[in-house]
Amino acid sequence: MNQEKVIVIDFGGQYNQLVARRVRECNVYCEIYSYKTDIEQIKAMNPQGIILTGGPNSCYEDNAPTYTKELFELGIPVLGLCYGAQLMMHVLGGKVEKAPVREYGKTRVFVDKASPLFTDVASTTICWMSHFDYISKTAPGFAIVAHSADCPVAAAENREKKLFAIQFHPEVLHTQEGTKILYNYVRGICGCAGSWRMDSFVQNAIQEIRAKVGNGKVLCALSGGVDSSVAAVMLAKAIGDQLTCVFVDHGLLRKNEGDEVEEVFGPNGSYELHFVRVNAQERFYGKLAGVTEPEKKRKIIGEEFIRVFEEEAKKIGAVDFLVQGTIYPDVVESGLGGESAVIKSHHNVGGLPDCVDFKEIIEPLRDLFKDEVRKAGLELGIPEKLVFRQPFPGPGLGIRIIGEVTAEKVRIVQDADAIYREEIAKAGLDRTIGQYFAALTNMRSVGVMGDERTYDYAVALRAVNTIDFMTAESAEIPFAVLQTVMSRIINEVRGVNRVFYDLTSKPPGTIEFE
Ligand code: XMP
Repeated sequence: MNQEKVIVIDFGGQYNQLVARRVRECNVYCEIYSYKTDIEQIKAMNPQGIILTGGPNSCYEDNAPTYTKELFELGIPVLGLCYGAQLMMHVLGGKVEKAPVREYGKTRVFVDKASPLFTDVASTTICWMSHFDYISKTAPGFAIVAHSADCPVAAAENREKKLFAIQFHPEVLHTQEGTKILYNYVRGICGCAGSWRMDSFVQNAIQEIRAKVGNGKVLCALSGGVDSSVAAVMLAKAIGDQLTCVFVDHGLLRKNEGDEVEEVFGPNGSYELHFVRVNAQERFYGKLAGVTEPEKKRKIIGEEFIRVFEEEAKKIGAVDFLVQGTIYPDVVESGLGGESAVIKSHHNVGGLPDCVDFKEIIEPLRDLFKDEVRKAGLELGIPEKLVFRQPFPGPGLGIRIIGEVTAEKVRIVQDADAIYREEIAKAGLDRTIGQYFAALTNMRSVGVMGDERTYDYAVALRAVNTIDFMTAESAEIPFAVLQTVMSRIINEVRGVNRVFYDLTSKPPGTIEFE
């Protein structure tokens, strides 16, 4: 894309994706690259600014991630955050040492000197600190602009060389004026005009797709979730009837979902595309029989999916491209987004078999967060009902049924989940809670119903509030609503005699159960 952009260089910190997102919130396009990316590649992109992220290492140790000094001599403004700030000092001749006092959490930072980074920021401001090391001596040419009680260099600048270092994390919402500080950097110091909008993203993506695809045929893996629906509509707008959407009903969908997807994308729906629905329930249940290990289940579902697509592709003939609705958190958590650890093999990425029978995979949403995908969906004119639909993972109920997947368990969790969703909507909470669903624990316990002993399953209800799906807190649902859900599930869903509410946040939990 020929547009102004800021590059984030990733040193393995946990908030790196948030940095990119905050930059995009300043209406400037942003991409993340590993610290292993060659300087020539960075130069070729001609970014307006470069941000160095935090990271878990000590920059003075052997083999710690580093970057060539040349980066600071390009004349492009560089902002170092936490590890990035320390590295900047270390590389340019300052000193970084183990801090006498580890700073962690909300910390009062005092701005001592006027700096373009702190324009309109209060002289005492609350910031999020998380560091063991500290800058004990700034590099030559740098002036200290802020400090905290335990950190003599909370921020420093070499204004002439356009180099800025911040020990705290402006990208985290706990830093009260963090967004303003990043805005000052991106729009003020880097001089970005801020012309990037979601509609530019959508228009650019459509043009890029057209250029890449030419006259080729494209197959879109449609799951019915928000991400693949947005990807499908984007493709439909870009290439119309060169697109075939294949919707695999793997028997792990929410109740009635298969028919709902068909209503929107099928022959009577709103889009001009070819739609194929494959009813592959038995095939998936067969492959999953006896399998209990979560990663194995994910891989089986991912592999089977792609095999079904390949078969459909063969029927269509000469399909060149496969489209997937992969979004940024999928990429990061599958360990493909940079330096972070693998949490789960996401169905859209890590779950793919090594050998895939397509020329290329197109993932138009790969750089976006969920809420950005929704904005793109609205830009594309997709109905709100679909855009604000609950996120649903590719492996579907397969990862919401702990242990072996059977048709009977699928029926139980579908019915329980439908009741839960209905009651959440009735209580007017469906737009306020980030994600909510029912899962089936593998636990059976003794109960009593109508004077009879029961020995049935326990359903777990999950509801989380999250902005970016990378971290989440369990949502506070009024007790009366939970009680209604509980009694309806126990009365209406055969095979359940107990209902739990999951209080776990992410981390340490994840949003899904497996
Ligand atoms: P976790 O469980 O990783 O979920 O905290 C974060 C978000 O990602 C969704 N999720 C998936 N989405 N394929 C997907 O398309 C997957 O394999 C997958 N696993 C989790 C989950 O629903 C939540 O929104």
